[in-house]
Amino acid sequence: MNKLAVIGVGKLGLCFAFNLERSGFSVWGVEANIPYLNELQNRKFRSSEPGVDQLLDTAANLIFTDDLNCIVEHDITDIFVMVATPSLPDGGYDHAQVDRVAGKLKVLANDTGIERNLYIGCTTMPGYCGLLAEELKPFGYTVSYNPEFIAQGAIIHDQLYPDQVLVGEANKQVGDRIQGIYEKMVLNKPVYCRMDLLSAEITKLATNCFLTTKISFANSIGDLATRAGADADKILAAIGSDSRVGGKYLGYGFGFGGPCFPRDNRALGKFGDMMDYPLRISKATDKVNNEHFQFQLNQYLLNFSEGMEIVFEGVTYKKGTTQITESQQLRLAVALAETGRQVVILDTEQVTRQVETLYPGLFKFTKELAS
Ligand SMILES: NC(=O)c1ccc[n+]([C@@H]2O[C@H](COP(=O)([O-])OP(=O)(O)OC[C@H]3O[C@@H](n4cnc5c(N)ncnc54)[C@H](O)[C@@H]3O)[C@@H](O)[C@H]2O)c1
Repeated sequence: MNKLAVIGVGKLGLCFAFNLERSGFSVWGVEANIPYLNELQNRKFRSSEPGVDQLLDTAANLIFTDDLNCIVEHDITDIFVMVATPSLPDGGYDHAQVDRVAGKLKVLANDTGIERNLYIGCTTMPGYCGLLAEELKPFGYTVSYNPEFIAQGAIIHDQLYPDQVLVGEANKQVGDRIQGIYEKMVLNKPVYCRMDLLSAEITKLATNCFLTTKISFANSIGDLATRAGADADKILAAIGSDSRVGGKYLGYGFGFGGPCFPRDNRALGKFGDMMDYPLRISKATDKVNNEHFQFQLNQYLLNFSEGMEIVFEGVTYKKGTTQITESQQLRLAVALAETGRQVVILDTEQVTRQVETLYPGLFKFTKELAS
C-alpha cells in the first residue's frame, strides 16, 4: 500500500497529498480544474497557506493529473476523495461533486474486478456515505468516512498533529488500513476514533456545533458582562481555567464565521429536522451569533459617531487566512460603513482586493491597491 490517490487537490486535498507524500507514499493528485492543475503541474501555483509553496517545490513523489485512469494504471487501491460539498440553501450539503467522482469510478471498476477502498474526506450529510457505500459495493469499492479537523492558515500543521483521527470504517480491516496510513503520516499520537459511517458523519458536524456553541456562549456572557459594567475577559478567563470547561474558543470577540463552523452547525440542524428531532442548540447558536453581531454594532455606534474613522485590523474570519466567507469582522465593517462611519481596513492585498470587488468604494484601505 505505498501508492495512494487523492481526488480533488483543493485547499484541503493538496495539503493532505503533500503530507502523505512527505511520509513516504507515492501520491497521485487527481484534479478536474485544468488551469489550476496546470499551475500545480508546472509548480507555479502560489498559496497563502503556510508550507504549501515549499512543499510544491520539493514533493517529488506527488504526480498531478486529471486522469482518473491513473488508479487502474498504477494499481492504486486506497483513494481519498476531497472534492467540495457546497452548502445548499436549506443548510444541507450538495454532494454532486462526490457523485460525479463515484460515477467515473464505477466505469473504471468495470474493467478490473479489484477491490478498492474509498475514503471520503469531504464533509457530508449524515447518511450520505452509507448510501454511497451501497451504490458502489457492486463495483468492488468499499466506502469509509474520514473527515479532517483543520483550521485554514494551519492546514499542513493540523493534519500532522491531529488531536483525533475520525474514521467511519467500512469494516475493521479497512479501518486498520486507514489507521496505518495515518500512523505513517502524523507526527504525534492522536486518538483514533473508529466507528460506523453514520456515527462518524454525525461526530464531524457535532464537534463543530459544540465549538460554535462554546463561542456563542462566551460572547453572550461577554455581552452581558459589558452591559452590566463587569470585566468580560476576566470572567471568561476564570471560567476557562476550570478544566471541565477549558479556555479554547472561550474568548470574548467576534462571532464565529468562516467556511466550516457556520455551515457544519447549520447542517447538523438540518439533519435534526430530517430526523424529526429539531436540534434547538444549533439554531440557538446561530441566533446568538446574530444577536452578538447586533450588540457589537451598537457598541461601535455608541463609541464612534458619524464621520469618525474606525480601523479594522484584519477582516478575514481568522487571522493568517485570506478567507472572508461569513466573516463577522467584515460584516461589522460593512454595517458600520453603511451608517456613514469611515471604515479603514488593514489587511493583505489578496484580502483587500476581494473586499473592494464585493463592496466597491465602501472602504478606505491602509495600503493603496496596485492597479
Ligand atoms: N478547506 C477547509 O478548511 C476544510 C475543512 C474541513 C473540511 N473541509 C471539507 O473538505 C472538502 C473539500 O474542501 P476544500 O476547501 O478543499 O474545497 P476546494 O473547493 O478548495 O477543493 C476541491 C477541489 O476538488 C476539485 N474537484 C471537483 N470535482 C472533481 C473531480 N470530479 N475530480 C477531481 N477533482 C475535482 C476542485 O476542482 C477543487 O480543486 C469539503 O467537503 C469541505 O467541507 C474543508
